[in-house]
Amino acid sequence: MAFREPTKIVAAALRALKETRDAKGAEAVWREYLGRQGLLRQQLRHIGSLPSAGRARKGKALHQAIARVEAASQARLETLRREEEEHVWRHERLDVTIAAPQVHRGTLHPLTLVRREAERIFSSMGFSVASGPEVEDAWHNFDALNIPDDHPARDLWNTFWVKSKIPNPKSKLLLRTHTSPVQIRYMETHQPPFRIIAPGQVYRYEASDASHNMQFWQIEGLMVDRRNTFSPVTLETLLSVLTSFFEQFFRKTVALRVRPSYFPFTEPSIEVDLSCIICGGSGKLADSPCCVCKESGWLEMGGAGMVHPKVFEALKFHSKEVQGFAFGFGIDRLAMLKYRIPDIRLFRQGDLRFLSQFK
Ligand code: PHE
Repeated sequence: MAFREPTKIVAAALRALKETRDAKGAEAVWREYLGRQGLLRQQLRHIGSLPSAGRARKGKALHQAIARVEAASQARLETLRREEEEHVWRHERLDVTIAAPQVHRGTLHPLTLVRREAERIFSSMGFSVASGPEVEDAWHNFDALNIPDDHPARDLWNTFWVKSKIPNPKSKLLLRTHTSPVQIRYMETHQPPFRIIAPGQVYRYEASDASHNMQFWQIEGLMVDRRNTFSPVTLETLLSVLTSFFEQFFRKTVALRVRPSYFPFTEPSIEVDLSCIICGGSGKLADSPCCVCKESGWLEMGGAGMVHPKVFEALKFHSKEVQGFAFGFGIDRLAMLKYRIPDIRLFRQGDLRFLSQFK
């Protein structure tokens, strides 16, 4: 490339700078003329090969040209940057009062909320939380609970049997029909004294309606101590634990009523009723009948009793030395009363309009 007249190059560079509209453009012009491959830098390389006559003059002119373009691009760059900044200030103001976009946050399932609340209350009374499998064997679900194979009480629990290849009938698999097998599993590995609760899902082969479901949550309780202690575990202990639980859970003063009942794994067995938390036990709501307790003033909460000696014996405990109580309640029922939900099936329909109301 031949040596070109620097003044021409300067004129072209100044024109280009004038025409650029933004800082990026000005930087591009600078690179075109003064960058490593820039036009003026290339000219510098020619100086050495020019005839000595006039070389100094041309060299000087080229350096002046470089200085001019350098100064002009700096000045243009500064102007453009300032303009851009001003534009941002004027048009891109940050409005800190604009509402932030909503971040969608999920909610906990009402049954989870109720289970956690029950765990919290029982923990405060010294109970620890135990668990067991939902696919259970017949020994833990029935036999060890004093319900042998041919016992008519098995009909109390319509069972979903699980097909398995194990021939031993005591190990036949099923979906647990109650949380009571967790009592057995816990006592297999622990010695009294202990107090536990076991919340868990249970399954019954039954038609569903507004208050029955094939799948629901139960909470089991078990408290056992030796007989010869200063304060053995009695039915009275059971009733005070349950009264305290219901009062904390419903944040109300409540009364309990017990009725005789039958479970193969407790003796005596009782059914526990709670004074209606809606009408306060009067059966009436402003002169009309209370529809939650069906005017009776009482709500059936679940079964309970003193652990049957046969259960202790199945676990090789000496039933003359230990005694304790057990209870089992429906968590779904607790949730329905707490949140006044009329149909148990709502919990398992996966309808977000329903589920997202609980916090
Ligand atoms: N397991 C019983 C049921 O599901 C409830 C129960 C538990 C009764 C513990 C007594 C003691 O019906």
